[in-house]
Amino acid sequence: MRIVDLIEKKRDGHALTTEEINFIIEGYVAKDIPDYQISALLMAIYFNGMTTAESTALTMAMLHSGETIDLSAIKGIKVDKHSTGGVGDKTTLVLGPLVAAAGAKVAKLSGRGLGHTGGTLDKLESIPGLSIAIDPKDFSKQVNDIGIAVAGQTANVCPADKLLYALRDVTATVPSIPLIASSIMSKKLASGSDVIVLDVKIGDGAFMKTLEDAKELSKVMVGIGTEVGKEVVAFITDMNQPLGFTVGNKLEVVEALETLQGKGPEDLTTLCVEIGSYMVYSAKITDSIDAARELVQQQITNKHAHDKQLEFLQAQGGKLPDLEQFIHVKDIVSVHADTGGYIASIKALDIGLAAMKLGAGRATKEDTIDPDVGIKLHKKVGDYVDQGDVLASIYTNTSSIDDIIAEVQQAYTISKDHVDKTPIIYEIITKEDI
Ligand code: URA
Repeated sequence: MRIVDLIEKKRDGHALTTEEINFIIEGYVAKDIPDYQISALLMAIYFNGMTTAESTALTMAMLHSGETIDLSAIKGIKVDKHSTGGVGDKTTLVLGPLVAAAGAKVAKLSGRGLGHTGGTLDKLESIPGLSIAIDPKDFSKQVNDIGIAVAGQTANVCPADKLLYALRDVTATVPSIPLIASSIMSKKLASGSDVIVLDVKIGDGAFMKTLEDAKELSKVMVGIGTEVGKEVVAFITDMNQPLGFTVGNKLEVVEALETLQGKGPEDLTTLCVEIGSYMVYSAKITDSIDAARELVQQQITNKHAHDKQLEFLQAQGGKLPDLEQFIHVKDIVSVHADTGGYIASIKALDIGLAAMKLGAGRATKEDTIDPDVGIKLHKKVGDYVDQGDVLASIYTNTSSIDDIIAEVQQAYTISKDHVDKTPIIYEIITKEDI
Protein backbone atom coordinates (compact mmCIF):
# COMPACT_ATOMS: atom_id res chain seq x y z
CA MET A 1 0.00 0.00 0.00
CA ARG A 2 1.26 3.51 -0.82
CA ILE A 3 0.03 6.57 1.04
CA VAL A 4 0.06 8.67 -2.14
CA ASP A 5 -2.50 6.32 -3.73
CA LEU A 6 -4.75 6.66 -0.68
CA ILE A 7 -4.52 10.47 -0.79
CA GLU A 8 -5.47 10.30 -4.47
CA LYS A 9 -8.38 7.95 -3.72
CA LYS A 10 -9.77 10.29 -1.04
CA ARG A 11 -9.09 13.38 -3.20
CA ASP A 12 -11.26 11.82 -5.93
CA GLY A 13 -14.15 11.25 -3.50
CA HIS A 14 -13.87 7.51 -2.90
CA ALA A 15 -14.24 5.81 0.47
CA LEU A 16 -11.17 4.32 2.16
CA THR A 17 -11.35 0.78 3.53
CA THR A 18 -10.75 -0.14 7.18
CA GLU A 19 -7.44 -1.73 6.18
CA GLU A 20 -6.34 1.46 4.43
CA ILE A 21 -7.33 3.63 7.39
CA ASN A 22 -5.43 1.33 9.78
CA PHE A 23 -2.38 1.58 7.48
CA ILE A 24 -2.55 5.40 7.58
CA ILE A 25 -2.96 5.73 11.36
CA GLU A 26 -0.35 3.08 12.22
CA GLY A 27 2.09 4.60 9.71
CA TYR A 28 1.57 8.12 11.03
CA VAL A 29 2.03 7.17 14.70
CA ALA A 30 5.16 5.15 13.77
CA LYS A 31 6.47 8.25 11.91
CA ASP A 32 6.66 6.26 8.64
CA ILE A 33 4.23 8.71 7.03
CA PRO A 34 5.26 12.39 7.16
CA ASP A 35 3.08 15.33 8.25
CA TYR A 36 2.88 16.75 4.71
CA GLN A 37 1.14 13.65 3.34
CA ILE A 38 -1.27 13.43 6.29
CA SER A 39 -1.97 17.18 5.84
CA ALA A 40 -2.97 16.54 2.21
CA LEU A 41 -5.16 13.64 3.28
CA LEU A 42 -6.85 15.72 6.01
CA MET A 43 -7.67 18.42 3.47
CA ALA A 44 -9.13 15.77 1.12
CA ILE A 45 -11.29 14.51 4.03
CA TYR A 46 -12.26 18.10 4.86
CA PHE A 47 -13.62 18.59 1.33
CA ASN A 48 -15.00 15.12 0.58
CA GLY A 49 -16.16 13.95 4.02
CA MET A 50 -16.29 10.32 5.13
CA THR A 51 -18.93 7.61 5.23
CA THR A 52 -20.07 6.32 8.66
CA ALA A 53 -18.04 3.16 8.00
CA GLU A 54 -14.91 5.27 7.36
CA SER A 55 -15.52 7.47 10.45
CA THR A 56 -16.00 4.33 12.56
CA ALA A 57 -12.80 2.78 11.17
CA LEU A 58 -10.87 6.01 11.86
CA THR A 59 -12.28 6.14 15.41
CA MET A 60 -11.25 2.53 16.09
CA ALA A 61 -7.79 3.03 14.57
CA MET A 62 -7.19 6.06 16.83
CA LEU A 63 -8.65 4.22 19.83
CA HIS A 64 -6.24 1.31 19.28
CA SER A 65 -3.23 3.62 18.83
CA GLY A 66 -2.83 3.77 22.64
CA GLU A 67 -4.05 2.61 26.03
CA THR A 68 -7.70 1.96 26.79
CA ILE A 69 -9.07 2.26 30.28
CA ASP A 70 -10.26 -0.94 31.91
CA LEU A 71 -13.28 -0.24 34.10
CA SER A 72 -14.23 -3.90 34.53
CA ALA A 73 -13.52 -3.74 38.27
CA ILE A 74 -16.42 -1.32 38.63
CA LYS A 75 -19.76 -3.01 39.28
CA GLY A 76 -22.78 -1.98 37.23
CA ILE A 77 -23.34 0.14 34.15
CA LYS A 78 -20.82 2.98 33.81
CA VAL A 79 -22.15 6.26 32.44
CA ASP A 80 -20.16 9.12 30.96
CA LYS A 81 -20.94 12.42 29.36
CA HIS A 82 -18.97 14.65 27.04
CA SER A 83 -19.52 18.25 26.09
CA THR A 84 -18.13 19.68 22.87
CA GLY A 85 -17.22 22.67 25.01
CA GLY A 86 -18.47 26.12 25.70
CA VAL A 87 -18.30 29.17 27.92
CA GLY A 88 -19.39 28.68 31.54
CA ASP A 89 -19.83 24.95 30.95
CA LYS A 90 -19.66 23.42 34.42
CA THR A 91 -22.12 20.59 33.72
CA THR A 92 -19.73 17.79 34.77
CA LEU A 93 -19.43 19.34 38.24
CA VAL A 94 -23.22 19.17 38.58
CA LEU A 95 -24.09 16.05 36.61
CA GLY A 96 -21.48 13.74 38.12
CA PRO A 97 -22.74 13.97 41.73
CA LEU A 98 -26.36 14.31 40.59
CA VAL A 99 -26.47 10.99 38.75
CA ALA A 100 -24.18 9.28 41.28
CA ALA A 101 -26.66 10.27 44.02
CA ALA A 102 -29.38 8.62 41.90
CA GLY A 103 -27.36 5.37 41.81
CA ALA A 104 -25.41 5.60 38.52
CA LYS A 105 -21.68 4.86 38.29
CA VAL A 106 -19.60 7.79 37.00
CA ALA A 107 -15.97 6.99 36.16
CA LYS A 108 -14.87 10.14 34.42
CA LEU A 109 -11.63 11.10 32.74
CA SER A 110 -11.48 14.81 32.02
CA GLY A 111 -9.17 17.30 30.40
CA ARG A 112 -7.75 20.74 31.03
CA GLY A 113 -9.00 23.70 29.08
CA LEU A 114 -7.19 25.53 26.34
CA GLY A 115 -8.75 28.88 25.47
CA HIS A 116 -11.73 30.64 27.11
CA THR A 117 -11.82 29.16 30.62
CA GLY A 118 -10.39 26.14 32.35
CA GLY A 119 -11.62 22.59 31.80
CA THR A 120 -13.23 20.38 34.44
CA LEU A 121 -9.83 19.49 35.90
CA ASP A 122 -8.86 23.14 36.32
CA LYS A 123 -12.16 23.84 38.05
CA LEU A 124 -11.71 20.89 40.41
CA GLU A 125 -8.10 21.82 41.14
CA SER A 126 -9.23 25.28 42.24
CA ILE A 127 -10.40 23.49 45.42
CA PRO A 128 -7.54 23.37 47.95
CA GLY A 129 -6.02 19.89 48.32
CA LEU A 130 -8.03 18.23 45.56
CA SER A 131 -6.09 15.77 43.41
CA ILE A 132 -7.03 14.43 40.01
CA ALA A 133 -4.05 12.07 39.85
CA ILE A 134 -5.65 8.84 41.04
CA ASP A 135 -4.09 5.39 40.75
CA PRO A 136 -6.32 3.16 38.51
CA LYS A 137 -7.05 0.74 41.40
CA ASP A 138 -8.09 3.57 43.72
CA PHE A 139 -10.12 5.09 40.89
CA SER A 140 -12.24 1.93 40.49
CA LYS A 141 -12.54 1.51 44.25
CA GLN A 142 -13.76 5.09 44.68
CA VAL A 143 -16.44 4.58 41.99
CA ASN A 144 -17.55 1.32 43.64
CA ASP A 145 -17.63 2.98 47.09
CA ILE A 146 -19.25 6.33 46.37
CA GLY A 147 -20.40 6.16 42.73
CA ILE A 148 -18.09 8.81 41.29
CA ALA A 149 -14.45 9.62 40.56
CA VAL A 150 -12.93 12.18 38.19
CA ALA A 151 -9.32 11.84 37.09
CA GLY A 152 -6.99 13.37 34.51
CA GLN A 153 -6.60 11.66 31.16
CA THR A 154 -3.33 9.72 30.89
CA ALA A 155 -0.87 10.72 28.18
CA ASN A 156 -1.18 7.36 26.47
CA VAL A 157 -4.87 7.51 25.55
CA CYS A 158 -5.37 7.97 21.78
CA PRO A 159 -1.88 9.27 20.83
CA ALA A 160 -2.97 9.28 17.16
CA ASP A 161 -5.68 11.83 18.02
CA LYS A 162 -3.13 14.06 19.77
CA LEU A 163 -0.88 14.02 16.69
CA LEU A 164 -3.74 14.51 14.24
CA TYR A 165 -5.39 17.26 16.29
CA ALA A 166 -2.14 19.24 16.44
CA LEU A 167 -1.79 18.91 12.66
CA ARG A 168 -5.44 19.83 12.02
CA ASP A 169 -4.95 22.92 14.16
CA VAL A 170 -2.24 24.27 11.83
CA THR A 171 -3.74 23.07 8.52
CA ALA A 172 -7.23 24.62 8.88
CA THR A 173 -8.85 21.17 9.03
CA VAL A 174 -10.37 21.24 12.54
CA PRO A 175 -13.97 22.01 11.47
CA SER A 176 -14.61 18.73 9.65
CA ILE A 177 -17.54 16.69 11.00
CA PRO A 178 -16.02 13.19 10.48
CA LEU A 179 -12.69 14.35 11.95
CA ILE A 180 -14.33 15.96 15.00
CA ALA A 181 -16.62 12.94 15.48
CA SER A 182 -13.81 10.39 15.36
CA SER A 183 -11.56 12.55 17.57
CA ILE A 184 -14.23 12.81 20.28
CA MET A 185 -15.52 9.23 20.00
CA SER A 186 -12.07 7.61 20.05
CA LYS A 187 -11.33 9.28 23.41
CA LYS A 188 -14.78 8.50 24.80
CA LEU A 189 -14.59 4.84 23.78
CA ALA A 190 -11.06 4.60 25.23
CA SER A 191 -12.46 5.82 28.56
CA GLY A 192 -14.40 2.57 28.92
CA SER A 193 -17.95 3.59 29.93
CA ASP A 194 -21.01 1.69 28.68
CA VAL A 195 -23.25 4.72 28.19
CA ILE A 196 -22.10 7.98 26.62
CA VAL A 197 -24.28 11.08 26.63
CA LEU A 198 -22.96 13.79 24.32
CA ASP A 199 -23.71 17.47 24.83
CA VAL A 200 -23.23 19.06 21.40
CA LYS A 201 -23.22 22.83 21.75
CA ILE A 202 -24.31 25.23 19.04
CA GLY A 203 -23.84 28.95 18.75
CA ASP A 204 -21.37 31.75 18.97
CA GLY A 205 -19.30 30.12 21.72
CA ALA A 206 -19.19 26.63 20.16
CA PHE A 207 -17.52 24.60 17.39
CA MET A 208 -20.85 24.04 15.62
CA LYS A 209 -22.59 27.21 14.55
CA THR A 210 -25.85 25.83 13.11
CA LEU A 211 -28.47 23.29 14.14
CA GLU A 212 -27.98 21.50 10.83
CA ASP A 213 -24.22 20.96 11.43
CA ALA A 214 -24.82 19.96 15.05
CA LYS A 215 -27.40 17.38 13.95
CA GLU A 216 -25.01 15.92 11.42
CA LEU A 217 -22.15 15.73 13.96
CA SER A 218 -24.51 14.17 16.52
CA LYS A 219 -25.75 11.55 14.05
CA VAL A 220 -22.19 10.60 13.07
CA MET A 221 -21.14 10.23 16.73
CA VAL A 222 -24.28 8.28 17.73
CA GLY A 223 -23.72 6.13 14.61
CA ILE A 224 -20.11 5.35 15.56
CA GLY A 225 -21.07 4.48 19.14
CA THR A 226 -23.99 2.30 18.06
CA GLU A 227 -21.81 0.48 15.54
CA VAL A 228 -19.45 -0.58 18.34
CA GLY A 229 -22.24 -1.60 20.72
CA LYS A 230 -22.38 1.40 23.07
CA GLU A 231 -25.47 3.26 24.19
CA VAL A 232 -24.93 6.81 22.84
CA VAL A 233 -27.32 9.75 22.80
CA ALA A 234 -26.59 13.36 21.79
CA PHE A 235 -28.24 16.47 23.22
CA ILE A 236 -27.97 19.54 20.99
CA THR A 237 -27.85 22.52 23.33
CA ASP A 238 -27.48 26.29 23.27
CA MET A 239 -24.17 28.14 23.46
CA ASN A 240 -25.36 31.50 22.12
CA GLN A 241 -24.83 32.88 25.62
CA PRO A 242 -22.70 31.53 28.48
CA LEU A 243 -24.22 28.63 30.42
CA GLY A 244 -25.42 29.73 33.84
CA PHE A 245 -24.20 33.02 35.31
CA THR A 246 -20.53 32.35 35.99
CA VAL A 247 -17.38 32.03 33.89
CA GLY A 248 -14.17 31.32 35.84
CA ASN A 249 -12.95 28.36 37.83
CA LYS A 250 -13.90 28.99 41.48
CA LEU A 251 -16.99 30.96 40.47
CA GLU A 252 -18.16 27.91 38.52
CA VAL A 253 -17.47 25.52 41.42
CA VAL A 254 -19.67 27.69 43.65
CA GLU A 255 -22.43 27.82 41.01
CA ALA A 256 -22.32 24.04 40.61
CA LEU A 257 -22.74 23.58 44.37
CA GLU A 258 -25.64 26.03 44.41
CA THR A 259 -27.27 24.18 41.50
CA LEU A 260 -27.04 20.90 43.42
CA GLN A 261 -28.95 22.60 46.25
CA GLY A 262 -31.72 23.74 43.91
CA LYS A 263 -30.47 27.34 43.86
CA GLY A 264 -28.84 27.29 40.43
CA PRO A 265 -29.63 29.10 37.20
CA GLU A 266 -32.59 27.83 35.20
CA ASP A 267 -30.64 26.90 32.04
CA LEU A 268 -27.94 24.94 33.88
CA THR A 269 -30.48 23.19 36.12
CA THR A 270 -32.72 22.16 33.19
CA LEU A 271 -29.75 20.93 31.16
CA CYS A 272 -28.36 18.84 34.02
CA VAL A 273 -31.73 17.37 35.00
CA GLU A 274 -32.50 16.38 31.40
CA ILE A 275 -29.06 14.93 30.59
CA GLY A 276 -28.94 13.35 34.05
CA SER A 277 -32.32 11.67 33.47
CA TYR A 278 -30.99 10.05 30.29
CA MET A 279 -27.87 8.86 32.10
CA VAL A 280 -29.92 7.34 34.93
CA TYR A 281 -32.41 5.73 32.54
CA SER A 282 -29.60 4.36 30.33
CA ALA A 283 -27.94 2.93 33.43
CA LYS A 284 -31.20 0.95 33.87
CA ILE A 285 -31.86 2.46 37.30
CA THR A 286 -35.42 3.32 36.23
CA ASP A 287 -37.57 1.87 33.47
CA SER A 288 -38.66 5.17 31.95
CA ILE A 289 -37.19 8.60 31.31
CA ASP A 290 -40.02 10.18 33.31
CA ALA A 291 -39.22 8.06 36.37
CA ALA A 292 -35.53 8.92 35.92
CA ARG A 293 -36.35 12.65 35.78
CA GLU A 294 -38.35 12.38 39.00
CA LEU A 295 -35.53 10.49 40.73
CA VAL A 296 -32.93 13.03 39.56
CA GLN A 297 -35.05 15.98 40.68
CA GLN A 298 -35.51 14.33 44.09
CA GLN A 299 -31.73 14.18 44.53
CA ILE A 300 -31.68 17.98 44.38
CA THR A 301 -34.64 18.59 46.67
CA ASN A 302 -33.56 16.05 49.31
CA LYS A 303 -29.97 17.45 49.17
CA HIS A 304 -28.46 14.03 48.41
CA ALA A 305 -26.80 15.39 45.25
CA HIS A 306 -25.13 18.20 47.22
CA ASP A 307 -23.99 15.73 49.91
CA LYS A 308 -22.64 13.47 47.14
CA GLN A 309 -20.66 16.40 45.71
CA LEU A 310 -19.06 17.06 49.13
CA GLU A 311 -18.33 13.34 49.59
CA PHE A 312 -16.70 13.19 46.14
CA LEU A 313 -14.57 16.30 46.68
CA GLN A 314 -13.41 14.99 50.07
CA ALA A 315 -12.63 11.53 48.65
CA GLN A 316 -10.18 13.24 46.27
CA GLY A 317 -8.58 15.28 49.04
CA GLY A 318 -10.51 18.50 48.50
CA LYS A 319 -11.00 20.79 51.48
CA LEU A 320 -13.73 23.18 50.54
CA PRO A 321 -13.69 26.22 52.81
CA ASP A 322 -16.77 28.21 53.71
CA LEU A 323 -17.97 29.43 50.29
CA GLU A 324 -17.94 33.04 51.53
CA GLN A 325 -14.17 32.68 52.08
CA PHE A 326 -13.44 30.69 48.91
CA ILE A 327 -12.80 33.42 46.33
CA HIS A 328 -10.10 36.03 46.90
CA VAL A 329 -9.67 38.81 44.35
CA LYS A 330 -8.26 42.32 44.56
CA ASP A 331 -11.38 43.87 43.09
CA ILE A 332 -14.93 43.18 41.87
CA VAL A 333 -15.84 45.66 39.13
CA SER A 334 -19.40 46.23 37.89
CA VAL A 335 -20.27 46.53 34.22
CA HIS A 336 -23.33 48.74 33.60
CA ALA A 337 -25.98 48.79 30.86
CA ASP A 338 -25.47 51.86 28.67
CA THR A 339 -29.13 51.81 27.64
CA GLY A 340 -32.41 50.28 28.82
CA GLY A 341 -34.28 47.40 27.15
CA TYR A 342 -34.31 43.62 26.78
CA ILE A 343 -31.09 41.61 26.57
CA ALA A 344 -31.17 40.27 23.00
CA SER A 345 -27.85 38.42 23.01
CA ILE A 346 -24.64 37.91 25.01
CA LYS A 347 -21.74 36.86 22.82
CA ALA A 348 -20.48 33.79 24.64
CA LEU A 349 -17.14 33.78 22.86
CA ASP A 350 -16.40 37.41 23.81
CA ILE A 351 -17.26 36.73 27.46
CA GLY A 352 -14.99 33.65 27.33
CA LEU A 353 -12.12 35.64 25.83
CA ALA A 354 -12.58 38.43 28.40
CA ALA A 355 -12.40 35.81 31.19
CA MET A 356 -9.28 34.35 29.60
CA LYS A 357 -7.62 37.80 29.58
CA LEU A 358 -8.34 38.08 33.30
CA GLY A 359 -6.42 34.82 33.76
CA ALA A 360 -9.31 32.32 34.03
CA GLY A 361 -8.17 30.40 30.92
CA ARG A 362 -5.02 29.60 29.00
CA ALA A 363 -3.94 31.20 25.73
CA THR A 364 -1.12 28.63 25.44
CA LYS A 365 -0.51 25.25 27.09
CA GLU A 366 2.23 26.79 29.24
CA ASP A 367 0.01 29.52 30.79
CA THR A 368 -1.05 29.13 34.40
CA ILE A 369 -4.60 29.78 35.48
CA ASP A 370 -5.73 32.17 38.19
CA PRO A 371 -8.59 30.18 39.79
CA ASP A 372 -10.14 33.15 41.58
CA VAL A 373 -10.82 35.49 38.66
CA GLY A 374 -13.75 35.47 36.26
CA ILE A 375 -17.03 37.04 35.29
CA LYS A 376 -20.42 36.75 36.96
CA LEU A 377 -23.34 37.69 34.74
CA HIS A 378 -26.37 39.26 36.40
CA LYS A 379 -28.53 39.47 33.30
CA LYS A 380 -29.21 36.88 30.60
CA VAL A 381 -31.06 36.84 27.28
CA GLY A 382 -34.70 37.90 27.69
CA ASP A 383 -34.12 39.88 30.93
CA TYR A 384 -35.14 43.55 31.09
CA VAL A 385 -32.65 46.20 32.25
CA ASP A 386 -32.79 49.91 32.94
CA GLN A 387 -29.92 52.12 31.85
CA GLY A 388 -27.18 51.89 34.51
CA ASP A 389 -28.25 48.47 35.84
CA VAL A 390 -25.39 46.05 36.56
CA LEU A 391 -25.03 43.56 33.70
CA ALA A 392 -22.03 41.69 35.09
CA SER A 393 -19.35 41.70 37.80
CA ILE A 394 -15.71 41.20 36.91
CA TYR A 395 -13.61 39.38 39.54
CA THR A 396 -10.07 40.60 38.91
CA ASN A 397 -6.56 40.56 40.30
CA THR A 398 -5.36 43.07 37.68
CA SER A 399 -5.81 46.78 38.26
CA SER A 400 -6.25 48.22 34.76
CA ILE A 401 -9.07 46.35 33.06
CA ASP A 402 -10.81 49.13 31.10
CA ASP A 403 -10.51 47.10 27.88
CA ILE A 404 -12.10 44.05 29.56
CA ILE A 405 -14.95 46.13 31.00
CA ALA A 406 -15.63 47.47 27.48
CA GLU A 407 -15.50 43.97 25.99
CA VAL A 408 -18.01 42.60 28.49
CA GLN A 409 -20.31 45.57 27.92
CA GLN A 410 -20.06 45.16 24.14
CA ALA A 411 -20.77 41.42 24.38
CA TYR A 412 -24.32 42.41 25.38
CA THR A 413 -26.87 43.55 22.77
CA ILE A 414 -29.85 45.38 24.26
CA SER A 415 -33.09 45.76 22.29
CA LYS A 416 -36.05 48.05 22.83
CA ASP A 417 -38.33 45.22 21.65
CA HIS A 418 -39.40 42.33 23.86
CA VAL A 419 -37.02 39.34 23.59
CA ASP A 420 -38.02 35.80 24.58
CA LYS A 421 -35.71 33.61 26.65
CA THR A 422 -33.87 31.08 24.48
CA PRO A 423 -34.37 27.33 24.99
CA ILE A 424 -31.39 25.41 26.41
CA ILE A 425 -32.09 22.09 24.61
CA TYR A 426 -32.85 22.13 20.89
CA GLU A 427 -32.94 18.43 20.02
CA ILE A 428 -32.04 14.96 21.26
CA ILE A 429 -30.52 12.53 18.75
CA THR A 430 -30.76 8.83 19.56
CA LYS A 431 -29.93 5.73 17.54
CA GLU A 432 -33.50 5.81 16.17
CA ASP A 433 -32.62 9.08 14.36
CA ILE A 434 -29.63 7.80 12.39
N1 URA B 1 -13.01 18.19 20.55
C1 URA B 1 -12.21 17.12 20.27
O1 URA B 1 -11.87 16.36 21.18
N2 URA B 1 -11.81 16.93 19.01
C2 URA B 1 -12.16 17.74 17.98
O2 URA B 1 -11.77 17.49 16.85
C3 URA B 1 -12.97 18.85 18.26
C4 URA B 1 -13.40 19.04 19.56
